[in-house]
Amino acid sequence: MRQKFFVLGISALIITAVIYYYFNIGLLFMAILIALLVVGFANASQHKHTILRNFPVLGYFRYLFEMIAPEIQQYFIERSTDGKPFSRNERSLVYQRAKNIDSSTPFGTQLNLNQPHYEGIKHSIFPAIVNEELPRVLIGGSDCTQPYSASLLNISAMSFGSLSENAIVALNKGAQQGKFYHNTGEGGLTQFHQQGGDICWQIGTGYFGCRDDRGGFDGGRFTEKANLPEVKMIEIKLSQGAKPGHGGVLPAAKNTVQIAKIRGVLPHTTILSPPSHSAFQDIKGLIDFIAKLRELSNGKPIGFKLCIGDTREFEMICQEMITQNCFPDFITVDGAEGGTGAAPLEFADGVGMPFEPALIFVNKTLVRFGIRDKIRIICSGKIISGYSILRAVALGADICNSARGFMFSLGCIQALRCHNNTCPTGVATQDKMLMKGLVVPDKAERVYHFHKNTLHSANELLAAAGKNSFAEVDINIFMRGDEFAHLSDLYFPDNLKSVRKH
Ligand SMILES: Cc1cc2nc3c(=O)[nH]c(=O)nc-3n(C[C@H](O)[C@H](O)[C@H](O)COP(=O)(O)O)c2cc1C
Repeated sequence: MRQKFFVLGISALIITAVIYYYFNIGLLFMAILIALLVVGFANASQHKHTILRNFPVLGYFRYLFEMIAPEIQQYFIERSTDGKPFSRNERSLVYQRAKNIDSSTPFGTQLNLNQPHYEGIKHSIFPAIVNEELPRVLIGGSDCTQPYSASLLNISAMSFGSLSENAIVALNKGAQQGKFYHNTGEGGLTQFHQQGGDICWQIGTGYFGCRDDRGGFDGGRFTEKANLPEVKMIEIKLSQGAKPGHGGVLPAAKNTVQIAKIRGVLPHTTILSPPSHSAFQDIKGLIDFIAKLRELSNGKPIGFKLCIGDTREFEMICQEMITQNCFPDFITVDGAEGGTGAAPLEFADGVGMPFEPALIFVNKTLVRFGIRDKIRIICSGKIISGYSILRAVALGADICNSARGFMFSLGCIQALRCHNNTCPTGVATQDKMLMKGLVVPDKAERVYHFHKNTLHSANELLAAAGKNSFAEVDINIFMRGDEFAHLSDLYFPDNLKSVRKH
């Protein structure tokens, strides 16, 4: 191709030069040809990019198409029911609820319900009356002196750094309006979180916001912030579904001077939080740390977040709680399908237990150890609709968190650019220009409406199942497609025989 390029290019240049000589036209074309030949020569002689070396000018189209592939996929190829991680239908549902406009669907379902993976709610022929009040759950065991009444749906952990300043402010203002909590994420509690909304302060392995000069936990700094009135709960982050066993990642492109100052790190460098905590080294240490944070925060609810890996470790944690007679007020279970600002692909695709089995396991294990009544289970993993809330409660959750659902309510279009600072909607970027597009008062309203309308839909489903409270919900209100096969077997065992002609 290289040879062809130069043969064709130089021939075209000679012809153009002759035309120009005789007819005095084609100067611009000649200039373009010369520029292309110079670029082509530079590309053909470089040693880094094979495609450009072999296709000195056409090679650029590959990079162009690769750059716009996600947009082409989303705008021209994607159908309503596909699109990953969230389908177009799922995203639209959040947008409509956030805008507080009609979110009903026309003409009927687009899903294939007649398959073994179908799941549906067993509605009652005597539906209950829909509760207009949004559900709340009290968090705080016997050692907690400042229990907190949490909404059934809240904003899951996402740091300032991962999200923009405007996104954090809009989330917190929405939380204030809707009376639900906003988890800070492991990046620390900042002034952008302090807009009047309730806060769950997350403490990750980097201890941002309560960090000593060597990067360890600083009890004094913790005490100062933990006792702020807006901090309602404190969550120790052990792991997160998208990258369990790997510390937090703040890419260099998003580590601005402002963020570096808040976190106490060097700006414009990639910040990798350690995979494990330095404040404790084993399970006994974890339980001691819970007791310590409870004391320093003057009895606020303390919990930990994890993605389930080795199930024996979780059982050992339960055993240790009983031995020390010290229990967290809540455990947040994150499914392996959870989101992130940035994670290594191997961790996102192949580490940790998915949401459904993890939630069932944690609930059953706490019941088996006889400590379920002492601990609230919070869960996260693609919860964006009333249906997903009801399903989570049926699987054992007391409270739900949503991260990407609230990102959609802020206008996120699933551009998949959270990691390189080019998020076009200003949600997951530190680029001031892009961030300006996210207008805080408008988006705070959307956050508020998404929360309210989603919980209202959960209330409607609850009533359709004939139930008056989420405490009455268990897995028996769901049916699965594979049950139909048994029903068919039961009622029509000789189905095939009966349609025979002879
Ligand atoms: C942009 C982004 C940043 C996140 N940052 C954190 C974090 O700082 N700490 C954490 O525990 N989880 C973090 N998560 C994970 C979420 O809190 C949540 O557990 C996970 O995305 C599953 O919820 P979802 O399916 O509703 O997104 C982040 C997720 C996203 C999308």
